[in-house]
Amino acid sequence: MSVDYDKFAKQYDSFRRPDKRIADSITKHLVGAQRIINVGAGTGAYEPTDCDVVAIEPSHEMIAKRKQGTTTAIQGYAEDLPFDDDEFDVAMGILTIHHWRDIPQGLSEMRRVAKRKVVILTWIDDSPKYWLEDYFPEMRVMDKALFPTLNELDQLLGRISSEVVEIPGDCTDGFMCAYWKRPDAYLDEGVRAAISTFARMQNVEAGLAQLACDISSGKWHREHGNLLTKDSMDLGYRLVVCDKTNYKHMKFAPAALHTDKFEKNDIA
Ligand SMILES: C[S@@+](CC[C@H](N)C(=O)[O-])C[C@H]1O[C@@H](n2cnc3c(N)ncnc32)[C@H](O)[C@@H]1O
Repeated sequence: MSVDYDKFAKQYDSFRRPDKRIADSITKHLVGAQRIINVGAGTGAYEPTDCDVVAIEPSHEMIAKRKQGTTTAIQGYAEDLPFDDDEFDVAMGILTIHHWRDIPQGLSEMRRVAKRKVVILTWIDDSPKYWLEDYFPEMRVMDKALFPTLNELDQLLGRISSEVVEIPGDCTDGFMCAYWKRPDAYLDEGVRAAISTFARMQNVEAGLAQLACDISSGKWHREHGNLLTKDSMDLGYRLVVCDKTNYKHMKFAPAALHTDKFEKNDIA
């Protein structure tokens, strides 16, 4: 099921404010780049301001919400980037690839237009169970089907490195696992409206009612209160980098990974 970002755009920036700590993790991979393409740019979160940036985004409404600046924003899709080979130093894509209709094609395009690096923030399914899954068990099943594994990314991009992006307990970017320390937040309709996984789930009412009940009865705190002592957690988010300069003289043929898994992404 596709997610309509023209509808998401209205409230997106109120709940999805770039988190400074996550921004720092991303920015260190962009150092020295003079020209960057931000694919699936949304409203422009995590874009650097000290270099030339071109943003690619399918949703007109998301583009309309961008702050005025020097960045050129173009309506378009990862799968068909209207640029020459090596036209950018870095191609970045933040929490976007799971929305693409054709992930192998989109990654191949990012790799083609980037001279130096492809930098992606994504989620992988090797994290321990997240407590929210007790209330919405279909969450992991759905996300597992949408997000490529590190092995798949390695085959598609070639020789990636990856690093854990720990999610701070007060994370300002309200994506799926951002509220691990703030269970009440998931009861807020606005919070849920800025999380695509909730838009994909069929029936959330029963899970929400159970969560509300467990919070008010103290059950949530009895079972998960130990989390409140932590500052940040690894919940499966990874910064994936393909540095083409490490092997620029080698030919790279992306693996043919057009499996059923990626063909399910029926994004309108
Ligand atoms: C969760 S938002 C992330 C936006 C932004 N990168 C951020 O970090 O806030 C996912 C974005 O991917 C975009 N998207 C969906 N399908 C896409 C495609 N085929 N190519 C490029 N972007 C796409 C959506 O429109 C949406 O703006």
